[in-house]
Amino acid sequence: MPQPIPTLRWEGGVDGHLVLLDQTRLPNEVVELHCRTVEDVWQAIKRLAVRGAPAIGVAAAYGVCLSLNSSGSLPLAGRVGEGVRSGYPALSPLPSPPHQGEGTGGNNIEVVRLACDYLATSRPTAVNLFWALNRMRDVAACGLAPEQLPQALLVEARAIHAEDAAMCTAIGQHGADLLADLPVGTGILTHCNAGALATAGEGTALSVIFELARRGKRPHVWVDETRPLLQGARLTAWELTQRNIDCTLITDSMAAQVMRQGRVQAVITGADRIAANGDSANKIGTYSVAVLAHAHDVPFYIAAPSSTFDPSIATGDQIPIEQRLGDEITCGFGQRTAPEGVNVYNPAFDVTPARLIRAIITERGVIKPGADL
Ligand code: MRU
Repeated sequence: MPQPIPTLRWEGGVDGHLVLLDQTRLPNEVVELHCRTVEDVWQAIKRLAVRGAPAIGVAAAYGVCLSLNSSGSLPLAGRVGEGVRSGYPALSPLPSPPHQGEGTGGNNIEVVRLACDYLATSRPTAVNLFWALNRMRDVAACGLAPEQLPQALLVEARAIHAEDAAMCTAIGQHGADLLADLPVGTGILTHCNAGALATAGEGTALSVIFELARRGKRPHVWVDETRPLLQGARLTAWELTQRNIDCTLITDSMAAQVMRQGRVQAVITGADRIAANGDSANKIGTYSVAVLAHAHDVPFYIAAPSSTFDPSIATGDQIPIEQRLGDEITCGFGQRTAPEGVNVYNPAFDVTPARLIRAIITERGVIKPGADL
């Protein structure tokens, strides 16, 4: 059974708006979030109402469409946050959004450019965000008549959306082919959420698992809860349960024990950015899992679309790592669990070196880290 509401969808035509499944409220509430301005989308990305590298890219592309949308003249405050009980700490102050709904004539291109610059400040690590925004910038720069631009932008955003869904399907098939020899009931560990909630399709890592299930392999998924924001517990466990996939939730620190007990035959995670040499950034804790997998001779795979590759940087050392507020650790979900004033380090991602990655499963096939796509 697929999830009850799509992760993201565009409602209406050029003057339409973006509707997101608000992931801060899962698994307790299934609630849609209506984004009608660029700032709404920026906020939704920043506070992880929409998250996961591919989904962030798709949402941002639709966000650019909103920059020329006449409904953008509505007051900004109060809509995204309305009634939200996410348990997430408050955000730091916003950079100024571009003027919206005023894009007439030649100003349209400038409005789009400013919207892209603004959305690019929402989160730094997932390269899919910048990849999608570059595609939208290219549409704005291709010399269309100003009145044609809104439609052209929407066509491009829809294309990015559809391509991502197709890439997920292909990743699932290539991954299931790769793991075809694993026995029925095999144990697969995953970290964070790289499922339908993180993409416009069935996901990357979870797409492989869903395809294995369709092929009768009955995988058993070990779900790392994924501190501090619990994407594994709140989102991956929810998705797997929705689809009747056998799974067991563990805290992140239990991964070594289940591997030692021989319960894990493969690890598959997503990625937020893959450098030219194959070093891969993903949710904080992924690197530890890769080290553990190596120590227990368990193959560690990354599943990611080509939009996650950043050939412009040589190694993972150059991947910008998002630093998030310490409150996520000391006061996550509204419950204080550490003394006031304690120093906190809260990087949202880490980098797994290519040498620990057995293979990267892409929509174009399975590659060894560092190979040309
Ligand atoms: O902070 P998040 O929830 O956006 O982090 C998401 C991840 O790290 C995912 O594993 C990654 O984006 C791949 S999603 C297909």
